[in-house]
Amino acid sequence: MCVSVTFEGHIAIVTIDNPPVNAASHAVRCGLIDALAQTEADAAIIAVVLLCAGRTFVAGADVREFGKPPVEPHLSDVVAALEMATKPWVAAIHGMALGGGLEIAMGCHYRISDPTAKLGLPEVKLGLIPGAGGTVRLPRLVGASMALDMMAKGKPVTAVAAHTGGLVDELSGADLRGAAIKFALEHADMRLPVAVSLRAMPQFDHDALSHEMSIIKSKACGQNSPVTVCEAVSNTINMPALDALKAERELFLRLKNDPQSLALRHIFFAERASGKIPAIANTPTPSLDSVGIIGGGTMGAGIAATCLLSGLSVTMIERDADALSSGHSRVMDILSGSLKRGLISTDKYKTIQAAFVCSTDYAALGDVGLVIEAVFESMEVKEAVFKSLDNATKPDAILASNTSYLDIGQISKSVNDPSRVIGLHFFSPAHIMKLLEMVTPNGASPHAIATGVALGRRLGKIVVPSGVCDGFIGNRIMSAYRRSCENMIEDGAMPSDVDAAMRNFGFAMGIFEMQDLAGNDISWAMRKRLAATRNPSIRYVDIADKLCELGRFGRKSGRGWYRYVDDKTHVDPEVSALILSESSRKGIARRYFSHEEIISEIIDVMHSVGTQILKEGIAAQASDIDVVMVNGFGFPRWRGGPMFLKSSNPTQ
Ligand code: NAI
Repeated sequence: MCVSVTFEGHIAIVTIDNPPVNAASHAVRCGLIDALAQTEADAAIIAVVLLCAGRTFVAGADVREFGKPPVEPHLSDVVAALEMATKPWVAAIHGMALGGGLEIAMGCHYRISDPTAKLGLPEVKLGLIPGAGGTVRLPRLVGASMALDMMAKGKPVTAVAAHTGGLVDELSGADLRGAAIKFALEHADMRLPVAVSLRAMPQFDHDALSHEMSIIKSKACGQNSPVTVCEAVSNTINMPALDALKAERELFLRLKNDPQSLALRHIFFAERASGKIPAIANTPTPSLDSVGIIGGGTMGAGIAATCLLSGLSVTMIERDADALSSGHSRVMDILSGSLKRGLISTDKYKTIQAAFVCSTDYAALGDVGLVIEAVFESMEVKEAVFKSLDNATKPDAILASNTSYLDIGQISKSVNDPSRVIGLHFFSPAHIMKLLEMVTPNGASPHAIATGVALGRRLGKIVVPSGVCDGFIGNRIMSAYRRSCENMIEDGAMPSDVDAAMRNFGFAMGIFEMQDLAGNDISWAMRKRLAATRNPSIRYVDIADKLCELGRFGRKSGRGWYRYVDDKTHVDPEVSALILSESSRKGIARRYFSHEEIISEIIDVMHSVGTQILKEGIAAQASDIDVVMVNGFGFPRWRGGPMFLKSSNPTQ
């Protein structure tokens, strides 16, 4: 029984107990209908408290029911029935009240919340809109503007913001249950408030709202669900509630079958499946409280900051005092940014400072459980670092490299026990990017892999396992499609054409803008390293190398594929001239490339390299490749990733 009814005097306590997140599954919906009938029929009951067992209120629909035909009672009917109860229902919220969970709470007459709870309607993130009256009830409680913002961004708000906005009637103290019962007793004799869906819309500024809607539509970049949220809110404003509820259902059903929603749901499941590595299924989860970081440059500082923010102690090693001081400042800049933005408290900032040690002496690593190396991308330098680590660390400490391309199998040979070496490939900026490629060289121990996965989870990363190859999953695919983009610019397109095509398709940015941001010198170093073994019969475009020879390393040097002035991006005639002269040097008659052709070429290359990576066993499953491209390379999430896109639409 996932919904039970107990009694506290004349108050009925309806408890949903459907672990892990009390999803609004079919059994829960039936249970609520039964509980409603029972409490309505029992003359001794004067009010009802609805609460949830475990760590959260109802945190959404049951994802296992996605894609299956809907089974009655629909959530919208349950919410409508609750709203018509003749006794007051008080929703007592803790943890998360998300999606269908918040819709249930809005069907109740009152909402009382633990102050640490979060409330939201995140359906937009799965390509949907709320389908159980959320678009009609939320604007009536918090006003059109706040409701639009919450539903179009899909970002939950804090209980405190929800209280200020009118979504929550009262914030509880530590005893939510007691507070909810007290609240129910106090309100039992009062006249029932008007059902939320029947309330008048609060006043709002029409011009401001249509401005907000136009911003949402322009930012949607082809994504349907935020635009449909605007449509639903317009309906709520302009139609009687019953018509708006009917229209919401139609919009919801339309989006449910939209390829964008299928793609978003694919990625949702793919992200949850990626970190489940069969090889460590029976390995106990290692505990870790301290890490060492070698190198305080861009990556080392970002990794150190993310570890510190997650409560780990960090010892950072640099090659000399100057580099150490720069590394220390980089880390502190990130941490003070977090403090300024209110992401951490002053107390936490102080605790973190105390947990951060810097040294130029590897002996400082004697006690750490895991070390992440983030020094220059050079095999020689990395081998020397790993030799030092072998002497300085405990024999069972895990040693990880953040290399972008190098052979971690070879690096592991620098230590006596290679089974403790893995790759942990973070993405830049490491304290923000969610993706972590967990690279496993042959012979890595299950304990080493499990430690890497446990660290990734602790840092809140999406962990994707990868075998060893040049560039692992993501950079290998990126290098291949970058080469094909370079072929296109030598054949007639300009970098700005390729970047515009990619952005129109929904990428966060184009490949040339991305390279300028990451620094062109890193891939240049990789190309120089591979120059001797390059197959001369495969076409090679020299433009990127020539830009690097001119010192055009990207944003950091103010010039790359573009010119950067005051943080604005400009097409640079010097680059255009270089491209034209390279085409003519090779006798290429330049031609026109449409955006469609550019994108089709890029997706084809991503898919064919992805297929090869799967065949070689570098990626465990096609969906892992999609997770990498979406979370590490700006592939539009609502297109599901290249493997999904091609399998669901082979003509793309
Ligand atoms: P960086 O040049 O910003 O930093 C490297 C740091 O390592 C410097 O501060 C340098 O002083 C230090 N260092 C060099 N030799 C050392 C030694 N023997 N002992 C201690 N410290 C030493 O480089 P970045 O960008 O941080 O890259 C570091 C590693 O991360 C590279 O392997 C790179 O391929 C990889 N990576 C870089 C990404 C990026 O976007 N920049 C993304 C993912 C991985």
